[in-house]
Amino acid sequence: MRTVTVTVPATSANLGPGFDTLGLALSVYDTLTASSFDDDRLVVEVTGPGADEIPTDESNLVVRSIAHVYADVDRPMPGLHLHAENGVPHGRGLGSSGAAVTAGILIAKGLLAGDVDLDDDALLRLATELEGHPDNVAPALFGGLTIAWTAERGPRHKKLLVHRGVAPVVFVPGFTMSTSLARSLQPPHVSREDAVFNVSRSALLIAALTQSPELLLDATDDRLHQDYRGPAMPETLRLVQALRAEGFAAVVSGAGPSVLVLADGPGARQRAVEIADDVTDTPWQAHMLAVDVQGGTVRERAEGST
Ligand code: HSE
Repeated sequence: MRTVTVTVPATSANLGPGFDTLGLALSVYDTLTASSFDDDRLVVEVTGPGADEIPTDESNLVVRSIAHVYADVDRPMPGLHLHAENGVPHGRGLGSSGAAVTAGILIAKGLLAGDVDLDDDALLRLATELEGHPDNVAPALFGGLTIAWTAERGPRHKKLLVHRGVAPVVFVPGFTMSTSLARSLQPPHVSREDAVFNVSRSALLIAALTQSPELLLDATDDRLHQDYRGPAMPETLRLVQALRAEGFAAVVSGAGPSVLVLADGPGARQRAVEIADDVTDTPWQAHMLAVDVQGGTVRERAEGST
């Protein structure tokens, strides 16, 4: 028997203009402990947000991700006892599926350590194969602000550290949004003008997040996804627009329906909370968070320890 514990942060993808490319790791975590056995048992226990809706059989996303790694490295899937304490809100655009995939990949890395060595590129490749796009799994794996892209040799990432003046706050509603529905609302083609608009804002956003937070409002503007998806989450769009009108760099977090504000200092966040309380009929749960700089961690638990 071997036991590993992994911790994986929530993530916010897109950050406005960086559709399917930029992502930020945030200080809310899923913590999972997995033990492997020489038999075919499968026990899955889940606590925390969304626990009632999460399957506990082979279709569980963490289990599927572990199995994906074992198949990739051509090793037989072991028996498993998995205990998940989830902290990442489920289905709210904060990377809960990316966190589950990342957790599975890191559990497999830990359980296979000493037999198979998985480097960062391999971890990102395996996670992207499951998630479909790399912008949540890159920050979930590596922390900080990540730029992710797919080269011919596979998905790659660059991690950057965020300026200490940037203070994230996330507004989470009571309803969920399906990523596949959100993606289906976007047109297959965009105008050159809109493409240039997002290219300029994405480039500026890297400068704003790492050096010049005062540029965040302009740098978080987007024409590629948020407005197209708005009809499926009108309250989210209304909150984004109200916050932006007051000068806050507000964006839809991932595919929504949560809203991410990148405030230029912790003090500014309370004003954003007051706006959210006033603007829509939806109760928004505000989470004042930090940027997670570590990303997913994996540690082996020695036999006999608790
Ligand atoms: N880039 C993705 C999207 C993130 O917006 O569809 C959500 O998984």
